Amino acid sequence: MRRINFFLTLLLLPLTALAAEVKSPNGNIVLTFSVNEGVPTYCMTYKGKDVIKPSRLGLELAKDKHASKGMSETDLMDHFVIKEENTTSFDETWQPVWGETRDIRNHYQEYAVTLEQRLDIPHYPKEAETKGMWVEPQTREMIIRFRVYDDGIGFRYEFPQQKELNYFLIKEEHSEFAMAGDHMAWWLPGDYDTQEQMTQQTRLSEIRGRMKKAVNWGNSSVAVFSPTGVQTSLQMKSDDGLYINIHEAACLDYATMHLELVDAETKALTTQLSGGSNAYTPNPKPSSYQLPKPFTFVSHLTPDATGLKGCMQTPCNTPWRTVMVSDDARDMLSSNLILNLNEPCKIEDTSWIHPTKYCGVWWEMIVGKSSWHYTNDFPSIHLDQIDWQRVKPNGRHAANNEKVKRYIDFAAKNGLDQVLVEGWNVGWEDWANMWKRDVFDFVTPYPDFDIKMLNEYAHSKGVKILMHHETSSSTQNYERHIKEAYALMNKYGYDAVKTGYVGDIIPRGDHHYSQSMNNHYLYVIKEAAKHHIMVNSHEATRPTGLCRTYPNLVGGESARGTEYEAFGGNNPDHTCILPFTRLQGGPMDYTPGIFETKLSTWSDNTSWARITIAGSLALYLTMYSPLQMAADLPEHYEKYDDAFQFIRDVACDWDDSRYLEAEPGDYITVARKAKGTDNWFIGGKCDENGHQSTIKLDFLDKGKKYNCTIYADAKDAHYEKNPKAYVITKKVVKAGDTLRLTEAPGGGFAISLITQ
Ligand code: NOJ
Ligand code: CA
Repeated sequence: MRRINFFLTLLLLPLTALAAEVKSPNGNIVLTFSVNEGVPTYCMTYKGKDVIKPSRLGLELAKDKHASKGMSETDLMDHFVIKEENTTSFDETWQPVWGETRDIRNHYQEYAVTLEQRLDIPHYPKEAETKGMWVEPQTREMIIRFRVYDDGIGFRYEFPQQKELNYFLIKEEHSEFAMAGDHMAWWLPGDYDTQEQMTQQTRLSEIRGRMKKAVNWGNSSVAVFSPTGVQTSLQMKSDDGLYINIHEAACLDYATMHLELVDAETKALTTQLSGGSNAYTPNPKPSSYQLPKPFTFVSHLTPDATGLKGCMQTPCNTPWRTVMVSDDARDMLSSNLILNLNEPCKIEDTSWIHPTKYCGVWWEMIVGKSSWHYTNDFPSIHLDQIDWQRVKPNGRHAANNEKVKRYIDFAAKNGLDQVLVEGWNVGWEDWANMWKRDVFDFVTPYPDFDIKMLNEYAHSKGVKILMHHETSSSTQNYERHIKEAYALMNKYGYDAVKTGYVGDIIPRGDHHYSQSMNNHYLYVIKEAAKHHIMVNSHEATRPTGLCRTYPNLVGGESARGTEYEAFGGNNPDHTCILPFTRLQGGPMDYTPGIFETKLSTWSDNTSWARITIAGSLALYLTMYSPLQMAADLPEHYEKYDDAFQFIRDVACDWDDSRYLEAEPGDYITVARKAKGTDNWFIGGKCDENGHQSTIKLDFLDKGKKYNCTIYADAKDAHYEKNPKAYVITKKVVKAGDTLRLTEAPGGGFAISLITQ
């Protein structure tokens, strides 16, 4: 009987192209899943328009010398049948520890399909018939879980623990995203090590032609892998008006995903970059594998030093792959899909986590006016062989007692919570790109930085010092020292650390976005949480919403920040793109607030920031972050104290946020209600073309009057020709009033609305 049942199932299976259809709660998004000739396949529409055309799902596994000891190596790409399907709905509202809104609704339809892979199917019937005997088929199970929201979908692979799938190695994930046309895209070159590149805006078909020009090869760690490889979060716009964004959520114990576009010229998908050259080696695929059609993106994971892309032990799962869609660009910015796909907060007591405004002994070093390092007297540094009290100072060391006190005084006077001090600890003399393992110990201050005195001084004024741990990407060195380093922070009352990963990863050969490095960043976040420390990680992997689960991850860089205004400049539209791309996964420590934009007027640096002062103020609203820096020098802010008033006033935690206008690369206008108050702040930022904004104040409380201060570009303001021309006007407004504003090229505006 058992045997007959098995043959019946077997006969039915290849004929059955089972298709499941799942609709989002409002019905706008429809996801369809089927198994076609054994291959899991999905597609997606929005209001009847194609978003994802039929696309295959699966993983290619690597062979390993331990295969005989239970390592699975048969690909999880085909020979699947549907074993079980479950459709459920979910609707809950949760409160983030900090965020853009007080409440976040998590509302979706879920479809979880258990797929059974019958490894013997191609040979089984014949063999069984001739031998006339029962052969237990070898089977493995994989679940694909889809969540269908009103603003997009997420899906992930889950691998239950089972005899035939216990340990396995990932050679490549083959999740496909077939686009319906030659969309406009805002993209960064796919790279295993950096996102600090200027965004390119081209059609999909133009990516290949633009790639070489798009890469800044001078960055301290670059590993581009394909002429059509791009990073996520990838923002696109279709000719029929759909905004589509592909990213990932909850990247845990897994490599960061890039996307490789199959275009008309693609012969084969590329394998990983080898030996640091830009080789773009074609990847020989299993013979049954057929390239998808042009305009299809295929996932491309970041390899580790061994070339592997994932070392897995069941039960386990991949991160969520996300596709957001809307016909209104504002929905891209207000979406909480990425956060919703992450696990709820795992930190029980979150009372020590707080939004923070800070200034820092930082910009003057980036610009080159002063130095992180203390002495010029040694060709190289052995940390354990130097008596720092006896070395000759270079006279340019910024993190000295006098200067740090000046910044603390400035912070105290202006209501800033913290002062970042970089270059306080020994080791900066030969810190970057030396393949040096023992580069810092994170506990020994330079002789002119009195850690006890300065912390006491800061605390006496209600200010904290923000710790800096540059690791120079020597990750094992950081892990070795981390407990002592955090104990030192606890001893002196630091509660936030900015970490950094400049240069190629040590141990050599690994990449910033590999599974092993992603595990390192998570280890740091968890260890910091144990010590009640908030983390702001520079050069780390791009965020995927983990700040929901670990809200002590208050910021990160993972993109080209303000520092590049001192290294040649960011394009004026840069900050009108980042909220659509980099910020989808979590807040960015963009370090805004540059007032003296022409650096040559106060330093030897000839670079200049492509922004007006009013535009700089707008960034405190449009670049959402619970951690906001006032990056310019105190003396520059003192010169424009009336404009600096906005930075003093603006909140960095919110009960509500309304995106009023948005178009990727052109303009963004957002109104936010400060946490626990009735006060609103509005920011508008535009590209090099300027923008006219009309703002209906219909979100204000009816019956209330607001003192409104507008910080706007002057009529003749311009990011290059006249960046410091701003006008401040004050009036009283109420709900229903309209404000009309002109944003200069590369400019913007900022408004505070304080209840009377
Ligand atoms: C790069 C970071 O982005 C920057 O903020 C920091 O000052 C330097 N590394 C030194 O750590
Ligand atoms: Ca950086």
